[in-house]
Amino acid sequence: MGILAGKAAIVTGGGRGIGRGHCLHLAEQGASVIVNDIDLEEARKVAAEIGELGGKASANDANIATREGAQALVQQCVDEFGAIHVAVNNAGNFKDRSFLKMSDEEFDAVVQVHMYGTFRVAQEAANRMKNQGTGGSIVNTVSAAHFGNFGQTNYAGSKGAIASMTYTWAVELSRYGIRVNAISPSGTTRMSATAKVGGKTVELPFLDPNQNGAFVAFLCSDEADWVTGQIFGSGNNRIQILSQPKYDTALHLPTDFSVDSIVENFKKVFDQRLENIGLMRAPYAFYDGVKPPEKE
Ligand SMILES: NC(=O)c1ccc[n+]([C@@H]2O[C@H](COP(=O)([O-])OP(=O)(O)OC[C@H]3O[C@@H](n4cnc5c(N)ncnc54)[C@H](O)[C@@H]3O)[C@@H](O)[C@H]2O)c1
Repeated sequence: MGILAGKAAIVTGGGRGIGRGHCLHLAEQGASVIVNDIDLEEARKVAAEIGELGGKASANDANIATREGAQALVQQCVDEFGAIHVAVNNAGNFKDRSFLKMSDEEFDAVVQVHMYGTFRVAQEAANRMKNQGTGGSIVNTVSAAHFGNFGQTNYAGSKGAIASMTYTWAVELSRYGIRVNAISPSGTTRMSATAKVGGKTVELPFLDPNQNGAFVAFLCSDEADWVTGQIFGSGNNRIQILSQPKYDTALHLPTDFSVDSIVENFKKVFDQRLENIGLMRAPYAFYDGVKPPEKE
């Protein structure tokens, strides 16, 4: 018997890529799974695959970016399996464009799926878990892009918001026995084929996208009943905790400090101590100033 025997789960965007691996691992560990994907044909394939392997799964094609879609997804899980214990927010899209050129439509399309979709599905699921009195596990999906990545204002911004929502929900929901964590996965998928760093396309070695699912299955089980409010890098050959943002070096001044005292002291404390910025964490490059291009 697997570590998720008797649990009912939903996985958004489970029809392909990383989400498919989550569904397969959850089912292998005994969970009954609703495989959601806006692409119904792909969701059906994964549900059928689970059935052939002896597991229990159904497909769902709700658009999780909408309130109606989130409600329908959670309702299907409760109708078919009698409860919901696990919600994995994995669905994602991208519309990369440099910040100065990004349209409202491009910004909104990505924020709707990642940020609103995660908010709506998690809220619908958590209210059910609370009312059931069973507790539960929510796993969200972030990306290292939320450190900042060229061309990804919409995606990076949404993933940063999901990280902050993960911490917030962990604080709010532990009283109901509901744990909230996130993964920052890696895997070769339709989405990773478009990966860019610093605005340039990068060739990545093949990484099995299914591998993230083993860790998600663990996180959703009672084996991890002491883990909440955490974000882990997953995939490939490691599980790695992500340090949470926290205050670091400080310039201490009298409480009524003036601008003059900042001008006098700021560089003394922060020179060579500014944080690296962006996905690659390259050494901070601007101690000599951020300057406009020279005129021809
Ligand atoms: N691939 C990586 O290396 C990587 C890295 C970091 C984060 N991620 C994150 O992992 C998650 C999965 O990414 P992937 O690489 O498997 O991408 P993918 O494009 O292969 O799969 C995403 C799935 O989500 C579905 N989807 C999109 N919008 C939806 C909606 N509104 N409702 C329901 N389903 C919807 C798509 O149809 C698709 O099947 C995403 O949240 C992504 O941001 C992936």
